[in-house]
Amino acid sequence: MSAAKTPPEDWREANRATWDERVAIHLEAQAYDLAALRAGQGRLHPVEAAELGDVRGLNIAHLQCHFGRDSLTLAQQGAQVTGLDFSPAAIAAARGLAEELGLSDRARFVEADLFDAPQALAAEAPFDLVFVSWGAIGWLPDIGKWARVVAALLRPGGRLYLAEGHPFAMVFETDQTAPDAEGRPGWFMPYMDFGLFKDEAPADYTGDFPALEAGHEYWWDHKFGDILTAIAAAGLRLDWVHEHDQVPWPMFSSLVPAPGGMFTWPEKSWLPLAMSISARKG
Ligand SMILES: C[S@@+](CC[C@H](N)C(=O)[O-])C[C@H]1O[C@@H](n2cnc3c(N)ncnc32)[C@H](O)[C@@H]1O
Repeated sequence: MSAAKTPPEDWREANRATWDERVAIHLEAQAYDLAALRAGQGRLHPVEAAELGDVRGLNIAHLQCHFGRDSLTLAQQGAQVTGLDFSPAAIAAARGLAEELGLSDRARFVEADLFDAPQALAAEAPFDLVFVSWGAIGWLPDIGKWARVVAALLRPGGRLYLAEGHPFAMVFETDQTAPDAEGRPGWFMPYMDFGLFKDEAPADYTGDFPALEAGHEYWWDHKFGDILTAIAAAGLRLDWVHEHDQVPWPMFSSLVPAPGGMFTWPEKSWLPLAMSISARKG
């Protein structure tokens, strides 16, 4: 596994500022449409919906839960859910939504850093399922430590479900102003150079990609091998790894909308855009 380098001193503070700012944007964004949730029929994206299985009666930890849309969807489907996020704005919005939807007894929300989750969630642990989805692990500097946090939260036999952007797709330029004739984006960075990326002019990924006021943010691209190795090293056994040619945000401007709020390649599926992993604690 690639050695984890010391992250910049301000990584948490800088990233928390951009996430606090995004919450207000997302509460109004079409991409985070809450109508189905408010109607008591929240839906996960098609990938998780097809793979997760019946969650009724499960005790679930939803890590990096944002303002709780998926946490509350899982609660509507009969799970007991604890969402964790380090953004005070996200947790306040999640608690407000839970109350509005009458789900406060099935979904609680804890403000804490991911790496403090074992202590912060001690009262609710151990969990049957740790749920992590879409745009989560890239905000974390240490994937090995992330996997150990997941393992610490699970009961023996409990399961990690992870759905994420595919590391291979991160080699491409997001804003593809001139894709080639078949919609293939240009290169952004070599896979073998993956690691820390500092964005000096962060924008949101919904709507017209509004620029954020917060100054900068940090992102870590984790290689596929490093993610799988971290999961194995934490004592989890893989059930399966799936690769998908769709992802729930316009990862490249050349992607086209697909059913269920997803985006996919315009023509041929050149490379996977997303991956999902199921693994169990022995
Ligand atoms: C793209 S969102 C995840 C969206 C999520 N799949 C959902 O259900 O909406 C990423 C989330 O990670 C959170 N986050 C980033 N770094 C974190 C950290 N170190 N500890 C806890 N939460 C973190 C952000 O506040 C943000 O809400």
